[in-house]
Amino acid sequence: MTEAIISVDQLTKTFRGKRSRDSVTAVDAVSIAVQPGTCLAVVGESGSGKTTLARIIVGLETADTGTVKLGGKTVARRANRRTLRARAREIQMVFQDPQSSLNRRLRVQVAVDEVLRAHTPLNAKQRRARCRELFEQVGLEARHLDAIPDELSGGQRQRVAIARALAAEPSIIVLDEAVAALDVTVQAQILKLLDELRRSKGLTYLFITHDLSVVQMIADEVVVMRRGSIVERGTTAQVLGDPQHPYTQLLLECAPRPGWKPKRGVIRALREEIAS
Ligand SMILES: Nc1ncnc2c1ncn2[C@@H]1O[C@H](COP(=O)(O)OP(=O)(O)O)[C@@H](O)[C@H]1O
Ligand SMILES: [Mg+2]
Repeated sequence: MTEAIISVDQLTKTFRGKRSRDSVTAVDAVSIAVQPGTCLAVVGESGSGKTTLARIIVGLETADTGTVKLGGKTVARRANRRTLRARAREIQMVFQDPQSSLNRRLRVQVAVDEVLRAHTPLNAKQRRARCRELFEQVGLEARHLDAIPDELSGGQRQRVAIARALAAEPSIIVLDEAVAALDVTVQAQILKLLDELRRSKGLTYLFITHDLSVVQMIADEVVVMRRGSIVERGTTAQVLGDPQHPYTQLLLECAPRPGWKPKRGVIRALREEIAS
């Protein structure tokens, strides 16, 4: 087995409130390992700690304890500007709402150019050519370069966000609910694009979603998070085909796929789970 490109060991993060009962352990002793070129899905309902885990891995949040290794190297728990910049070259993020990473008044090309300026030595002319190339790779046309975000559809905006992430030539992309705001048809198109890009560029994905039904199309392995902890892990076929934990069964129940029927005993397990 090759060395994991992302290796997270016993990561814990508690957000302290004014009173101790307001404290939330968003990530609780989480360990994951992702092999290069594969996709790990992190699944769990809202509030289970997925985004906090992702933010710690990319360096936007500081863990209380535990370690993060990227490409075999332990990264500093508290990142400074310079290390954050170096990490951003290695690992990029795509969010649910591309509006948040795109300035509404600026042509979308500018958002991609910004990343090229930060992370590549290309001159202005080379960057324009690279933008066109990146747009082509994500299925956009040259005319979209000069659009502002409002002139594009949700799917097209997410393609721009993907082009922007690719501009840094990262080895890892963290996708946090990246298809959650899209309708099912567009979702499938974006998942297909992401899958093709991963194969052609040898990328590694950490794919975060509350929706188990999108996992099938993209992930090799799945971890299921609940209240900050991992309650189940396995290959996508194992976790979707034969979920062991009642919480995973509950998530599957909430994301019915064609042909999926609850197993005997699942409904009772779900009731007990909800009551717990
Ligand atoms: N900056 C923060 N300050 C306080 N609590 C937070 C903060 N970020 C997240 N939390 C809490 O941590 C828990 C996990 O949140 P989050 O990681 O966003 O989960 P998810 O992405 O799975 O919805 C939630 O209870 C949330 O309210
Ligand atoms: Mg989240």
